Parts: sequence; structure tokens; C-alpha cells
Amino acid sequence: MFKAHFVKVCNFQSSKLHKFIGLPFKTLGVKTMYRFLYCSNAMPTLDEIVSLAKFAEMTKKITPYSNTELGKKEQVTKMFDTISNTYDGLNRVISFGIDVKWRKRVVAILSKRQPKSILDIATGTGDLAIEMTKTGADSIVGLDISAGMLEVGQRKVNEKNLADTISMVVGDSENLSFEDDSFDAVTVAFGVRNFENLEKGLSEIRRVLKPSGVLVILETAVPKKSPYRQGYRFYTKNILPLIGKLFSKDKSAYTYLSESASVFPCGENFNNILRKIGFIDVTDEPQTLGVASIYIATK
Ligand SMILES: C[S@@+](CC[C@H](N)C(=O)[O-])C[C@H]1O[C@@H](n2cnc3c(N)ncnc32)[C@H](O)[C@@H]1O
Repeated sequence: MFKAHFVKVCNFQSSKLHKFIGLPFKTLGVKTMYRFLYCSNAMPTLDEIVSLAKFAEMTKKITPYSNTELGKKEQVTKMFDTISNTYDGLNRVISFGIDVKWRKRVVAILSKRQPKSILDIATGTGDLAIEMTKTGADSIVGLDISAGMLEVGQRKVNEKNLADTISMVVGDSENLSFEDDSFDAVTVAFGVRNFENLEKGLSEIRRVLKPSGVLVILETAVPKKSPYRQGYRFYTKNILPLIGKLFSKDKSAYTYLSESASVFPCGENFNNILRKIGFIDVTDEPQTLGVASIYIATK
């Protein structure tokens, strides 16, 4: 019964009506929301209220800017275009360089499957696409919605003489221009939490994967155990936005990146989303105290 309520809340969260009356709901609180949705006078239990509040937090739409009419996709594109030239340097600083190790792990996982064709979605400045040339793939397509990020990536590809293997293309993960069953493998590093419509993006990925093809996703996660969880919260809430404010051209970009990381579903929650889309053999490998995860799934 409560599961059905969850679905209702989920649909409601993404509806236009929610945007319209979101503020009164925030003010009136979750009990009123519950009563409104279920047209019921029966009071939810404390556990149900806590679960609802958690769920509402998880599905809340986090966007880079608050003072704009632009949708999430346009905002994300604008933000990455603006920070493209400082992205690589700041990335190394805020992750203490560990992101390099995580990408190598993705490559190790893929190498076992020996894919010939790989699509790297949300490739950004191309670090993963470049690292994946070590898998021996014949062709790697790096796709991204931000032309600014791709420009930096293309420069790196040219400098490394990898243009024969890697092609960088502008595209939207939620509306891919490739035929069904095109790639042996698809990868996404730190991209899925930026999708405007996560399920649409994942369905598109599944569509362009060949049968038995593999999807490998690297994404930030929130550590489950104390004191790592508290340490992570402190770092992402206080230090990361400060570094962004000091060194990035876009003052709100790193606040968005840490906020979106803290509410994005991870671990088994994300595995379940992949299963819902139709992926099979879904597993996740937590990395470095649980601050990131690698998800592996098959079509
Ligand atoms: C945090 S960066 C990650 C870049 C790179 N994969 C890496 O590992 O450093 C996220 C990237 O996702 C891209 N992105 C966001 N939404 C997208 C979409 N709908 N389609 C394609 N790319 C998207 C952004 O433009 C940005 O370059």
C-alpha cells in the first residue's frame, strides 16, 4: 500500500502542479501533502513520514541557477560551457586526484569485455574517452551537450594523436542520434546526475547498446558509514563550494555539483533504477570509502 503511495508522490514531484504549489507544501509540511495526495484522513505513521520526506528530498530537482526561467538541461549546458576551461584543474583539486584512479578502474572493468565500439556519454573534456583507448577499442565516441567542454576535450585528443580512434560529438543523452544496437559498451562518468530526465537518458543508453552490451557508470555517492558520512557532508557542504567560489568563473557551479551529489540516488537505489529501465546483471562497486560508485549493467 505504501509503495503505491510512493509512486504517487514520485509522479506528483515531477508534475507541473508540484512546481505551482510547491511553496505552500513546503510551508504546510509533509502531513498535509500526504492528506492531499491520498484524500485520506488516516494519519501516516512516523516511519512513513520520514520515508516520504527522504523520498521527496531524493527526487527534488536541483538546478545550477535559481534566478532563471531556463530548464535544467539548458542551465547545465550553460554552466559547463562557462567552467570548461577550469574544469580539469579544479576536478583534480576537489577529488584529491582520486578521480583519475576511478576512471582507470572503469577501464579495467571494460577491458575484460574487449569492446570494439564504445560510446562515452557526458564525456566532457574527454578524460575517460582518452583513458579508454587502452581497452583496444577501434572506435570511441565522446558525446556531450556542452560544446565548451568538448572543445577542451578535442584539443586533448588532438594533442595525443587519438583523433583516429576518438570522435567528439555534440549531443543530448536523452535523445541520441544513433541507431538501436550500435555500441558494445556505453560509459558515463559523473554525468547521470546532470540529466534532466534520468530515466529517459538511461532508456536511450539501453536502446543504443547492442544486446549483451555493457553499461558502466561512474558517479559520486554518499558514504553509508560514520564518520565518513559526516566527513563527506562537511566537505561537500562547506569546502567544495568554497573552492568553487574562489577558483571557478561560475560561483554557483560547485554549490550545484555538491548539492546534486548529496541527493542523487546511489547504491541499491540506483541499481533498482537501472533494473526498472530493463538492464540485467546490475551490480555496484563502491569506491574510496563510498564517496563514488561504479555501476555495471548489461542489456
Ligand atoms: C561533471 S561533467 C563530467 C565530464 C567527464 N565525463 C568527466 O569524467 O570528467 C558532466 C558532463 O555531463 C554533460 N551533460 C549533462 N547533461 C547532459 C546531457 N543531457 N547529454 C549529454 N551530456 C550532458 C555536461 O555537459 C558535462 O560535460
